[in-house]
Amino acid sequence: MKDILTSRFVEEMRRTTANMYRLGWDERNGGNISYMLDENEVKEYLDVKKTIREIPTGFNALPLAGKYFIVTGTGKYFKNVDVDPETNLGVLRIASDGETAQLLWGFKDGGKFTSEFPAHMMSHIARLKVNPENRVVMHSHPTNLLAMNFVHELDEKKLTHTLWEMCTECIVVFPDGVGVLPWMLCGTNSIGEATAEKMKEFRVVVWALHGVYGAGRSLDETFGLIETVEKAAQIYMLTAHLPRLNTIKDEDMVKLAELFKVEYRKDFLNLN
Ligand code: 13P
Ligand code: ZN
Repeated sequence: MKDILTSRFVEEMRRTTANMYRLGWDERNGGNISYMLDENEVKEYLDVKKTIREIPTGFNALPLAGKYFIVTGTGKYFKNVDVDPETNLGVLRIASDGETAQLLWGFKDGGKFTSEFPAHMMSHIARLKVNPENRVVMHSHPTNLLAMNFVHELDEKKLTHTLWEMCTECIVVFPDGVGVLPWMLCGTNSIGEATAEKMKEFRVVVWALHGVYGAGRSLDETFGLIETVEKAAQIYMLTAHLPRLNTIKDEDMVKLAELFKVEYRKDFLNLN
């Protein structure tokens, strides 16, 4: 059996959480990640018959039965993942009845998966139906996007349009736009269900006055998605109080979307 600390997936989780922390998106225990793993790859590092303990999921995750995930722990700091992955991360499998998570590695101090586990697992279920290659769900508190929540209308079309206007390639990176949920109590099954409902349509979902959810095929892709939305929000926050002299036109966004052959939300543009 190979040392799990040398695995690609632990290495990627260490790097990604460190980057997110460095960018100031994930203060204290803010943010969480779940990353679906391939069983054969997990078997190179762990005896998958050896469950350390069972943790109730708190909802029925039956569509994910038998699936493996590496997940950040609740109350754990992204800042600390790199120095102590075995305490701050866990590898688990969803049991055949979908009611428990079988811990195979990690959460060494007796900890458990993120309090946002329902939102993560329900979002995986929703995204896998849209794209069977989806592997990652990521939650974060990016500074500028959060700041923008306080001064910009939280209407999906208006918010997406403003973000698309801020960087030339935004419409190419998130052509499906940005979904928005009103402020809701986090860590609940209700916010999980609402997030998953939005994830049927969007790969980026803003939790009003809290943060953002992103989904994608890899950690890199999902990180890049949130990074691009955050960059657009940063440009907005740097310029919102200044007179706007120039802007990227809707007709130009259409040209970009056509050049890069992306399916975009035409109803989020104002075309004649
Ligand atoms: P956890 O520490 O439980 O992952 O919660 C952090 C967070 O961002 C809640 O939304
Ligand atoms: Zn949060």
